[in-house]
Amino acid sequence: MAFVGQRHWIVTGGLGFIGSAFVRMVLRDRTDVRVTVLDAMTYAANPENVREVAGDPRYRFVRGDICDAAAVREAIGDEAAAIINFAAETHVDRSILAPEQFLKTDVLGTHILLEAVREQGIGRFVQVSTDEVYGDVEQGSSTEDDPIRPRSPYAASKAGGDLQVLAYHNTYGTPVLITRGSNTYGPYQYPEKLIPLFVTNLIDDTPVPVYGDGRQVRDWLHVDDHARGILHVLEHGELGNVYNLGGGNSRENIEITKVLLEATGRSWDTHVRHVTDRAGHDRRYSLDASKAMRLGWQPNVSFEAGLRETVEWYRANEAWWRPIKSGEFREYYKTQYASR
Ligand code: TYD
Repeated sequence: MAFVGQRHWIVTGGLGFIGSAFVRMVLRDRTDVRVTVLDAMTYAANPENVREVAGDPRYRFVRGDICDAAAVREAIGDEAAAIINFAAETHVDRSILAPEQFLKTDVLGTHILLEAVREQGIGRFVQVSTDEVYGDVEQGSSTEDDPIRPRSPYAASKAGGDLQVLAYHNTYGTPVLITRGSNTYGPYQYPEKLIPLFVTNLIDDTPVPVYGDGRQVRDWLHVDDHARGILHVLEHGELGNVYNLGGGNSRENIEITKVLLEATGRSWDTHVRHVTDRAGHDRRYSLDASKAMRLGWQPNVSFEAGLRETVEWYRANEAWWRPIKSGEFREYYKTQYASR
């Protein structure tokens, strides 16, 4: 099938949770854009995530690692107008068990992409990053000018990537942008993260592991709002700038747990286990997203409605997550949780 469309965008990690939401949205809302997904197909990637667009003549897939310059060149082909980098190792608990792959993908991989942008004169590079680079925020909210103080191997790897991106802008004038999203939830999220893990456990009548006292605070953002924010920054952001994309929904983990118990008809006494806390666990993240809002973006999905719909999605899409939970995930779950 012909690969048509005026502008060519490379979406790395486009088979993952946020990347695939971005790909589905772009192919729906930007009819003059064609997309090449470059994805290494690690455990968190899933071709099902883009199934509804995979037959679109504006969609193309290249299997490959962002650390592999030849794969990056193959994805770019003759030219590309933008690279949007979603490819990353993202799970804090996995980074505590085995940090090395995080450095490879999140730091070295970002470097390889920046080199491609520089060599091939690509017009935009968007680095999709995270509020975790700011570290634990006792009070108030992080602004883009705040110092970064990452505290987990994952957050330190993402911070390393961000610093390379900013250094390339300063040194070579590379046309970069960084988004820092808050905790993201919604359909197609790999069930190692808090919300999909708890929802799928509860559907399965299995207890959920709450770390420590469960009073840690995260700021929740729906994946569609997140994807739209990244697109907005790509199209309107000022080069060399960082934009926080926060959902404005600060909740303690135990509040989320209560909502999920209620939505699945389970009770606290039978379905919650307080387990040993995560090592070095950040107590609170909070983003000041006013800079992105001044640029014209704002989150639209109400947290209550979004969470309800997410539970419904996991209920209706067992065929998506059951194979995941019975595969590699089972070993991971044992390693992560058995001794807690
Ligand atoms: P997570 O979804 O892993 O995102 P992040 O660590 O990037 O914020 O975790 C969200 C919060 O939920 C965090 O405070 C850790 C907590 N959590 C649990 O209490 N139990 C779990 O099994 C998981 C995966 C997370």
